[in-house]
Amino acid sequence: MADPKDVSVLLRALNGERVDPPPIWIMRQAGRYLPEYRELRGRAKSFLDFCYSPALATEAVLQPLRRFPLDAAILFSDILVIPDALGQKVWFVEGEGPRLEPLIGQERWVFGDTEKAIQRLSPVYEAMQRIRGQIAKDVALIGFAGGPWTVATYMLQGRGGDKDDARRTAYLRPSEIDALLSLLVETTARHVAAQVKAGADCVQIFESWAEGLPLALFERLILKPTAALVSRLRALGVTAPIIGFPRGAGAHMGRYARETGITALGVDTQTPAAFAREQAPANMPLQGNLDPQLVVAGGEVLEQGVRHVLDVFRNGPHIFNLGHGITPDATPENVSALVRIVKGAA
Ligand code: CP3
Repeated sequence: MADPKDVSVLLRALNGERVDPPPIWIMRQAGRYLPEYRELRGRAKSFLDFCYSPALATEAVLQPLRRFPLDAAILFSDILVIPDALGQKVWFVEGEGPRLEPLIGQERWVFGDTEKAIQRLSPVYEAMQRIRGQIAKDVALIGFAGGPWTVATYMLQGRGGDKDDARRTAYLRPSEIDALLSLLVETTARHVAAQVKAGADCVQIFESWAEGLPLALFERLILKPTAALVSRLRALGVTAPIIGFPRGAGAHMGRYARETGITALGVDTQTPAAFAREQAPANMPLQGNLDPQLVVAGGEVLEQGVRHVLDVFRNGPHIFNLGHGITPDATPENVSALVRIVKGAA
């Protein structure tokens, strides 16, 4: 038996235990709201070089942990390393976001194979090993990947923004889309399994673009590939808990929670916390929901918001987090206050 003080409170909550106060980590906790991150980012030629440098990636992970008593570290990487490793051109435009050579408009889609992609991603697994060696035992290490449809939308459109083009392509080129999703399921499963082998205690699937889908497409593009991803991970021997975060799933959220095989459900900002509790299976751990803008606003409204989330989720296993990533204009002082309020809430 592991020494109880070495078992992270996050893993206990993921195991279905009600922990008071709940564990806390913050989506995008390493990032531009930290001045030391901006300094570090300036040392890499490009954002992808940053992600593929085990030394820089490890340092980025440690930065927020030095400032705040968070219960988890999350790998520093990006969901778009998968298309990059599969041979699609990916780059990041300063102040705008990611760009890829869009598949839409190309007559034939050609990709590299999974095996080679996983080889190319070896610096990510090396970073994971280094991080594990440098954080306390009771801090959980989270691995991650994008959901198959979220990554596919970037590959199709070449950028964020509205997803009409990607959705229309799901109707117009169904067999190619299904083949792309299958390739992403297999590559993502191998990528996540390698992260777990390198030291991740649990993983999160960021399905950031679960929004705006009619039921038939939600079933085909989100439910089916996610269920396939989870069962492929289990077949690969991965027993680590899986947090699914279907941002914008709305009315489809209950089916996502019940039918994909995930361990815990990430709740976005717009979903009423009580609705999420009602929709998810009775003892499923819930995570998230605090409006990231409250961490920019600070003060009284932040405190009220935090207390509301704590109140609604307190009847089941709960992991405190935001409903989406922290924004660059949030202040480290407000993050300190947030963690203090949560930790003092027992
Ligand atoms: O601290 C952490 O959470 C770990 C690192 C992490 C990053 N991206 C680093 C990053 C994680 C978990 C992600 C996930 C990710 N990446 C998602 C899913 C989560 C979400 O926000 O919905 C998505 C959609 C992406 C794709 C992506 N990468 C976008 C849209 C952008 C641009 C927007 C932005 O914030 O700049 C990125 C770039 C990116 N990924 C940055 C960081 C720290 C900023 C780039 C920089 O520092 O120059």
